[in-house]
Amino acid sequence: MKKILIGSYILITVGIIFVISQNSFSSTKDVKSIQAGEKLYKQQCAACHGETGKGEGEKAGTSLNNKQFLSTFSDKDLYNSVKFGREGTPMQGYKDKLSEKQLKQLIAYMRNWQEEQIQFIAPIKIEGDPENGKRLYGLYCLSCHGDAGTGKVKMGTALANPQYLQYTTDKQIWIGTAYGREQTRMNPSLKGLEGVRQLKEKEISDVVSYIRSLQNKRHE
Ligand code: HEC
Ligand code: HEC
Repeated sequence: MKKILIGSYILITVGIIFVISQNSFSSTKDVKSIQAGEKLYKQQCAACHGETGKGEGEKAGTSLNNKQFLSTFSDKDLYNSVKFGREGTPMQGYKDKLSEKQLKQLIAYMRNWQEEQIQFIAPIKIEGDPENGKRLYGLYCLSCHGDAGTGKVKMGTALANPQYLQYTTDKQIWIGTAYGREQTRMNPSLKGLEGVRQLKEKEISDVVSYIRSLQNKRHE
């Protein structure tokens, strides 16, 4: 009897701690910024990225309300994407259109979509063979992301884009390729995951090395 009592005390205590931590989690959110960000988002971004952020806008836009995306892009990465945009794609830079404060409000709004932080497994060192990567890219990626990563509107993003390559690490490209983005056309590529492609870790590193090599070829 005593044991059961102690057990339920522990349960109740754990329950209380859980409730408290849930509350303090939500109270750390800056509700005002999120609301201001929502307003800006509806005005400036929804036509392309969609009302709910799943990329369902009438014009071309990626899915931003996506747990794979939000787990790999830090606030700073989101900020850079919006501030500098992606030259030559429908995603313009907002550095002259929005103030620093407005940019931060938008980031707060997008971050508020995130329900969980996924920890992805990726190699510590990504060193691949760009030649083999080019071959694999031609087989598995080109149909959507275009010749040499130029991108295709509504089909696949521009991977050779100078801003994309400047503000994205090899690890982020690796994770994007390997794990894909749920509910978009970007399926996982890593062997063993439920994707149309079944690439080995090494092969993904090869593709990443190829994509990275496009950086230098851009303004020849
Ligand atoms: C069926 C079309 C399709 C194929 C094939 C495809 N992708 Fe994608 N990919 C997409 C789309 C669409 C997105 C954007 C998804 C979204 O809305 O967030 C994307 C996003 C990405 C991203 C994230 C880019 C960013 O802007 O953050 C990377 C990296 C990527 N793809 C790499 C690859 C590689 C490498 C291959 C081949 C191994 C590949 N993809 C094959 C359609 C495709
Ligand atoms: C005219 C359509 C359009 C508008 C308006 C627009 N975007 Fe985009 N956005 C895009 C497209 C298309 C891409 C992918 C570009 C590419 O092909 O690489 C993108 C990329 C992004 C990315 C990087 C996503 C990724 O998968 O790597 C972020 C973040 C983003 N947009 C946020 C915003 C925000 C916030 C706004 C509003 C201030 C906005 N966008 C307005 C079309 C748009």
